[in-house]
Amino acid sequence: MKRVGIVGWRGMVGSVLTERMRAEGDFDHFEPVFFSTSRAGGTGPDIGRETPPVADANDVDALAAMDIIVTTQGGDYTTTLHRALRQAGWKGHWIDAASTLRMAEESLIVLDPVNRDVIEQGIHNGVRDFVGGNCTVSLMLMAIGGLFRQGLVEWVSPMTYQAASGSGARHMRELLEQMGALHGAVADELADPASAILAIDRQVTDTLRSDALPTENWGFPLAGSLLPWLDAEMASGQSKEEWKAEVETNKILGRQGDPIPIDGLCVRVGAMRSHSQALTIKLTRDAPLDEVEAILGEANDWVSVVPNEKEASLSRLTPAAVTGTLDVPVGRLRKLSMGGEYLSAFTAGDQLLWGAAEPLRRTLRILLE
Ligand code: HSE
Repeated sequence: MKRVGIVGWRGMVGSVLTERMRAEGDFDHFEPVFFSTSRAGGTGPDIGRETPPVADANDVDALAAMDIIVTTQGGDYTTTLHRALRQAGWKGHWIDAASTLRMAEESLIVLDPVNRDVIEQGIHNGVRDFVGGNCTVSLMLMAIGGLFRQGLVEWVSPMTYQAASGSGARHMRELLEQMGALHGAVADELADPASAILAIDRQVTDTLRSDALPTENWGFPLAGSLLPWLDAEMASGQSKEEWKAEVETNKILGRQGDPIPIDGLCVRVGAMRSHSQALTIKLTRDAPLDEVEAILGEANDWVSVVPNEKEASLSRLTPAAVTGTLDVPVGRLRKLSMGGEYLSAFTAGDQLLWGAAEPLRRTLRILLE
């Protein structure tokens, strides 16, 4: 059996990954060794059977004894340890959630329901670094990958509504603390049905702008507001999150030589762990809506088409509906008034599942086949 080192399993993405691996019986297919940067010698997570003591995640020799390493430890860890291992001559497979190696020439971005062919070809060609895509990119491709596969996409403009989990566990906690602080500031007035809503709103706004609101992690109010910038500034005027959409999508699809333009705005909203995206898609032809819906719905086992109706959209096409599931609904499908080639779509998906953990565990299974 292959030996697989798992690093970062105590973090949020790592915990979701370990849970999913256990649920899918992945641990029956390899010999797991859990690594930690701080808990070497301790006990690993409960996977339903004994595992060796936790190994030191900074021990290059111990890591080099693995056939495959799966890491959700983060970009800094990747930068240091991946280089050290390769320099030491390690030839194993490296599966990573961090963005560090995503655009490297020697790496592949993995999302097998969309690019299994690219992955197979890469393995055949000796690729050894496999990286999960940016969460919005992976979730967009799970939703509308069928249109790309059919050559129906001329360009896409995604406008995102991204959840707190994309920034990490501390940020999720702070979002809830902000919500609590806002509620706390007006709880008495709210309990009185006769109180004036404008007075309540003024108090909420004062709290949003005051030091009473915890903003140590976000830097700004998110609850009761939104953040129209994610990640670093680029010379192009894009945020780095926005820049990733085009480069990563085209790399996933294996069409870097003939890229499809994909550009829009990324916005953080007060959802917990499911990202949503409103997509404007320019089709390469005026394909009828029923054809578009059939292509979308048949593209993979997790996408579903939600009818463009109010009740269905509000009940099935939201973070509240999809969180904690692998479902990727896509709806609000209609031709825009600009013409028959302009399609609107809206999709939501769990940022920690298809957006992070799921492509990694599935890649591991492919490598173990
Ligand atoms: N950059 C993403 C976010 C995380 O902040 O939501 C998923 O790759």
